[in-house]
Amino acid sequence: MKKGKKLYEGKAKIIYATTDKDLVIQYFKDDATAFNNQKKTIIEGKGVLNNRISEHILSNLSQIGIKNHLVKRLNMREQIIKLVEIIPIEFVVRNVATGSIIKRLGIEDGTVLKEPLIEYCLKDDELGDPIISEEHILAFDWASKEEIDEVKKMILRINDFMIGMFRGVGIKLIDFKLEFGRYKANGKSEVILADEISPDTCRLWDSITDKKLDKDRFRKDLGELIPAYTEVAKRLGILHEQSNVSAVNVTKLSSVKKNRK
Ligand code: TMP
Ligand code: ASP
Repeated sequence: MKKGKKLYEGKAKIIYATTDKDLVIQYFKDDATAFNNQKKTIIEGKGVLNNRISEHILSNLSQIGIKNHLVKRLNMREQIIKLVEIIPIEFVVRNVATGSIIKRLGIEDGTVLKEPLIEYCLKDDELGDPIISEEHILAFDWASKEEIDEVKKMILRINDFMIGMFRGVGIKLIDFKLEFGRYKANGKSEVILADEISPDTCRLWDSITDKKLDKDRFRKDLGELIPAYTEVAKRLGILHEQSNVSAVNVTKLSSVKKNRK
């Protein structure tokens, strides 16, 4: 399979065509953006870490029967993924209230939610991804009732799985964002998870110290983003060989190791 022309460039990824019409290549950039692109920079090595972390989580999700777009990781920055028609909704899942919801609703930061809360945002950068209700999704045909119900079931399974996976390595899954798409195969269309899952799209706090191990390090100018993402990768057992981290600053990696209690 050969890499073809660029089909789409987003804030953190680029999608290229391939010689297989059903598959595309997803390239992870080092660009970091926040607050709908108002704040941006380049953080060397971020794309490499997100590629590895997302591959790890999506392959684990496949193993428990959650269909997703990952076919295989190609190299340090690229994956082959299934081409889908993306559902234009960002599904935000919250276990603990922080981030936009505490400002929007005046909730105390860190409030543990009784049940996972799913919020819907319209995927439209120009409008600033406004929050919407299920009724809006149905009224404007962004997805059908059956699709929303299917997505909700998948989200709750993904959340349960990820809470357990992260808990096992001393990390609390605070919230995350997911996107889904319609994949057409053999004349049938099915809804699959079609998004990266990484510290760019999740909030991850150390279970004991509440240290932020995610993109809030950039959003809130806390610094040390690469050591935090590396810490997540290492705890998940992804980075153990030196060769795996050649694109990441190795001196920073070793300082993370020393600081770990
Ligand atoms: P929020 O608190 O800013 O609404 O973010 C909730 C979660 O969704 C958090 O884990 C970050 C993630 N997220 C994205 O991945 N992309 C986005 O565009 C936004 C707004 C949030
Ligand atoms: N991803 C969004 C942006 O690039 C928002 C965020 O993650 O904070 O602006």
